[in-house]
Amino acid sequence: MADAAKLTIGDTTTELPLVAGSEDEVGLDIAKLRAETGAVTLDEGFVNTGSTRSAITFLDGEKGILRYRGYAIEQLAANCDFVEIAYLLLHGELPSAGQLDDFRTDLRQHTMLHEDMRKFYDGFQHNAHPMAILSSVIHALSTFYADSLDVNNPSDVHRCTMRLLAKVPTIAAYAHKKSIGQPLVYPKNNLNYCENFLQMMFSVPAEQYEVDPVHAEALNLLLIVHADHEQNCSTSTVRMVGSADADLFASIAAGVAALSGPLHGGANEACVAMLERIREDGGDVDKYVAMAKDKTKSFRLMGFGHRVYKSFDPRAKIIKAACDKLLKQQKINDPIFGIAQKLEEVALTDEYFVERQLYPNVDFYSGVIYRALGIPVEMFTVLFAMGRLPGWIAHWQEMRQSPGKRIYRPRQIYIGPTEREFVPMDKR
Ligand code: CMC
Repeated sequence: MADAAKLTIGDTTTELPLVAGSEDEVGLDIAKLRAETGAVTLDEGFVNTGSTRSAITFLDGEKGILRYRGYAIEQLAANCDFVEIAYLLLHGELPSAGQLDDFRTDLRQHTMLHEDMRKFYDGFQHNAHPMAILSSVIHALSTFYADSLDVNNPSDVHRCTMRLLAKVPTIAAYAHKKSIGQPLVYPKNNLNYCENFLQMMFSVPAEQYEVDPVHAEALNLLLIVHADHEQNCSTSTVRMVGSADADLFASIAAGVAALSGPLHGGANEACVAMLERIREDGGDVDKYVAMAKDKTKSFRLMGFGHRVYKSFDPRAKIIKAACDKLLKQQKINDPIFGIAQKLEEVALTDEYFVERQLYPNVDFYSGVIYRALGIPVEMFTVLFAMGRLPGWIAHWQEMRQSPGKRIYRPRQIYIGPTEREFVPMDKR
């Protein structure tokens, strides 16, 4: 590979160094472009822009490859639990048995929320969206731990990291309990991460509750496949907010807000709503495929398409198999699953979808599994956030530790009016 590319603008030719990644991806280093030529790049939606060098996750959208720290998602999903994945993402290596044990013990010390935080939940409307609650309460954590927010102090960062990983399931389950008017359930540290979350979601003080291991296993898998996805919208948000030296709680709260959008994490909720709508409308899948293709309508098939994956989404493949297994194991006959399968079949053979390389993404089948676990639809994106949390934190830490760290501050091409005379009120 050549060392540099040449760019000529008018009479000026400048050399732009080429940067190669470990998987032979090539980037054009434009750091000196503006200083040398006066021009900036314009890349709306950042389709061609590498915002950073990163050693956390590799994905190849053409080949449908996803690896965390070099390990294939298929192998990790088949062999690990979510806490192990969190360790891998944060530390860069798989833990030894002892390291994992210490990590779990550390996490268990932080699962409870400060009692005063429970009062926040009284202030939210009963139908408040749990993503709004999650984002607000995560940010509010900083008001309880003001003495350990120093972004340059590794021990503070470690404490914030463990607090977030341990408390987010509690915050999320409280949001659900609030919405259905049941008492908030405290964490139980003898249970593992997923079991504990399920008991906080579904147990009530009046009755004995046994966690279904099949449910805990399915949840574990879903959290793993969501754990990181390189520079997506919410992760870039976390990095951007953190680049201003905002603390970890503030940065993660911003990531949750970004994830809530229906084009991002909110798609799992939107996807099940769409499948419900198709079912209520008589199950006519073709009608909705036609609507998605109609450019006069804003309707899109939720759970289809991806900015990066252009052959298949490996996460969707893993989730579809798990979904199939879970529904059979639990003898659940969910009509939504049938509609999803039909829709996938039609869309995958339809010229419009084939031409545009629109395949089912991670959100297409995850909602069906969440339903089978009894998770209410408005909690779907919250579970996505729980899964993505270690990825966000790993990126935040990587950004903070990168030698060339600067505040994220993109440029623009201004297209507004040029200078004009101020018009006084009586002349407008
Ligand atoms: N249904 C119908 N048409 C679609 C869809 C869809 N789901 N997705 C893309 N298209 C069409 C789009 O209209 C455009 O057609 P044309 O070239 O004729 O104008 C073409 O495909 C390219 O679409 P785009 O919007 O330019 O693609 P993008 O890379 O900007 O957007 C996306 C990616 C994921 C936002 C988009 O595919 C989409 O809106 N999908 C539905 C929402 C969804 O499932 N989101 C979850 C993404 S995966 C999880 C996550 O990252 O959070």
